[in-house]
Amino acid sequence: MAALDVKVRTALSPSPRQPLASSKLGLLADDLAAHPALWRPLVRHDPADRWYVRLRYTADFEVWLIGWETGQDTELHDHGGSSGAFAVCEGALTEDWTERATALGSSGSLRRRVRPAPSRRVFGPTYVHNLVNRGPGIATSIHVYSPPLSSMTYYQRAADGTLAVKRTLAVAGPDPEITAATVAAGGGWRSG
Ligand SMILES: [Fe+2]
Repeated sequence: MAALDVKVRTALSPSPRQPLASSKLGLLADDLAAHPALWRPLVRHDPADRWYVRLRYTADFEVWLIGWETGQDTELHDHGGSSGAFAVCEGALTEDWTERATALGSSGSLRRRVRPAPSRRVFGPTYVHNLVNRGPGIATSIHVYSPPLSSMTYYQRAADGTLAVKRTLAVAGPDPEITAATVAAGGGWRSG
């Protein structure tokens, strides 16, 4: 009976989140980047601040579109335990990255690579990175996270090079999904 009870409880419970495998995250980022008709009409680049919009939110993953003017960056951050992938669609982004386990209290652990379009990076749940558009010109990228982001912790680097937690921010739940029509109508996207 105990086994049956477990089965009944399982059947009545909401389905647990099913994070996408890294390979699927990469394929999804690649596929979206290869179909600019899906996102190109939505792209904005704001000289005042990095521009971004959430394109899709499900229980298992979410997708963001980001527009970068020269000099704009994310700050060094993690993804609250989510895995992810990003595809650089135009321009180039410079990435400094490490793993959280080696980030705290360590120095000299950041690795750097310039990622020009078209390029793609897949990362796991302990990944810590900063992305910056060093120019010349704008950059545009697509980012996939699974499960959807729940929080992001930001890190700062001391003068001696060691990393420490700066702040942790909760990530808001789903916005209404964005369509080309809502953007064309002047709504449905935001900057900042
Ligand atoms: Fe990130």
